[in-house]
This record gives sequence, C-alpha cells and structure tokens, in this order.
Amino acid sequence: MKDLLKLLDLSKEEIIHILNVGDQMKYNQKHGLTHNYLQGKTLAMIFEKNSTRTRVSFETGMYQLGGHALFLSSKESQIGRGEPVEDTARVLSRYCDGIMIRTYSQEEVEKLAEYADIPVINGLTDFAHPCQVLADLMTIREHQSKLEGLNMCFIGDGNNMVNSLIVGCLKVGMNVSVACPEGYDPHPDVMEFAKSVTDATFTLTRDPMEAAKGADVVFTDVWASMGQEEETAKRKAAFQGYQVNEALMKVTNPGCMVQHCLPAHRGEEITAEVFEAHAGEIFDEAENRLHAQKAVLYLLMGEEKK
Ligand code: CP
Ligand code: NVA
Repeated sequence: MKDLLKLLDLSKEEIIHILNVGDQMKYNQKHGLTHNYLQGKTLAMIFEKNSTRTRVSFETGMYQLGGHALFLSSKESQIGRGEPVEDTARVLSRYCDGIMIRTYSQEEVEKLAEYADIPVINGLTDFAHPCQVLADLMTIREHQSKLEGLNMCFIGDGNNMVNSLIVGCLKVGMNVSVACPEGYDPHPDVMEFAKSVTDATFTLTRDPMEAAKGADVVFTDVWASMGQEEETAKRKAAFQGYQVNEALMKVTNPGCMVQHCLPAHRGEEITAEVFEAHAGEIFDEAENRLHAQKAVLYLLMGEEKK
C-alpha cells in the first residue's frame, strides 16, 4: 500500500490493521507514551475545499508523530493558477515525505498519486472520504467491541460519505442498508462492489424507516456537500423525510449509535434532539480522525513500509 486513495483499494486485513494501529496511537497519546515515529518528516496538505477537522487532525497528528505539516491552500499556491497536478506531484516529492489532498475530483487525486514518489492520502473528494470512514469504523468498534455482523444504516445523500461507508463497512463484514431519494444514489462503482459482496448484506431503499429497522449504527450527512451550494434549495426539497429523528431511532436496535462526520445541519439531516442524545459518540468519532490518521501516516510514511 503506497497511498490511501479510496477504501476500494484496501483489503479487509489492511483496514483492520489500520484500526489496530489507530487504537495503539490513541493509547500512546492518552498515556503520554512517546510515539515520534515521523521525526524529520513533512506532510504537504493541499486544500481546494474548506476544512476544520481534516486540517487540524492531520496537522496535530504530524506534530505528535514528531513531524511537520504544511498547509497549502489551492488559492494561494500555483495549483489555483492552473499548474498541472503532474508537476505539483513531482515537485512536492522532492521536498516532502507525504501529501494529503482535499479536492473535487477523484481522478485528480489518482493522478497526483501516479506522478508522486511519496504517499498520497485522500482527505476527501466528491467520490470518497476514506480517512473519515476509518475513524468511523474505529469508533464503532470502540463502542460495540466488534464490527462483523453489525447493521449499519445510512440516511440521505448518495455522496462521498456513503460511498466510503458502504465499501468500508461491507469489507469488515457489516451489513449495510441505505435510504436515498431517487436520483441521489451512491456511485455506480460502489453499487457494483456492493453487489459483489457475498458475506454481508446490502440494501438500497427509498424508505428511511425500512433502512433503519434493526440498525446498530445510523449515519447521516449533509444534504448539499461542498461544491453543491447552488443546488441547496433543490436538495432541501428532494431530501424531505430523509432525516435522523426520534421516530426513526425508535425502529433501530436498543443501544443503536448515531454517527455524523460533521459539520451537521440540525433540523435538516438530523434533529437537534438526536444529535445531542448521541453527541458523545459523534465527538468520539471526530476525535478518532486524529488517531486513525496517525495510523495511516505511520504506516505510509514511517519505517514499517520499508
Ligand atoms: N468531517 C470532516 O471531514 O470535517 P472537515 O470538513 O471539517 O475536515
Ligand atoms: N459530504 C460532505 C462531507 C463533509 C466532511 C461534503 O463533501 O461536503
């Protein structure tokens, strides 16, 4: 594994290994144990979209690992003036030890990885959000002590989050059920993968209640993702009823968790009541971005890869 571009590229064993190393990173940090495995190493972080969690967790994670992170906003770098990604990849490979990128197109990230000699990590594209889902799986395992056999449900837009959740959850043996309105289905590549899985179940429905029945963990995400701001009104109409609320939670299994990658829009994809009732789990999820990504950074940029 040279890069982390999408969970479709990873095996179940690789995902579980990242989660195990993530747990160890968390333990080390909580117990004040030295874990400066990336001393002297630099991560370039390219942002073509906004971020709070991804930026802070990667930057803090690199610092805690003894390394350094550089924030490169596309607007203030030559990327925003059209320098080809192939050239950015080769230049950064001469200075840095890894690249994290948040952008629109998955193809751009794949091309960056093709031309870079150093590891590339996808910090979110329109297609995928693999770092988030690694943190999500880590959080579910922490709370439920297992992954295999649990029922994951996603309510809402067939976006980057659900694309990565479907792949990540099915790969670790969780059953997946998704409720999206017509016209907002997950990506066809993800649907094709889901259909090929034989040791866990996958359901796509238009009925949120049907999807939520018997769930052990419910996910949702914003109705309009970054880059879709102009569609906000149209999406608001299309997603009416696709909300995680108390009525929906009633049909889930006892002790069902709620996860949200954040930022959340209360009153849209989730009610304030459900959000606050599950805030502990949701902010554990946000915290685990740090630990899961430190595992990814260590595995891709540290000694173990040699
Ligand atoms: N969940 C997530 O990726 O948050 P940011 O957009 O704040 O990075
Ligand atoms: N689907 C959201 C996730 C934000 C972390 C977006 O792409 O904006």
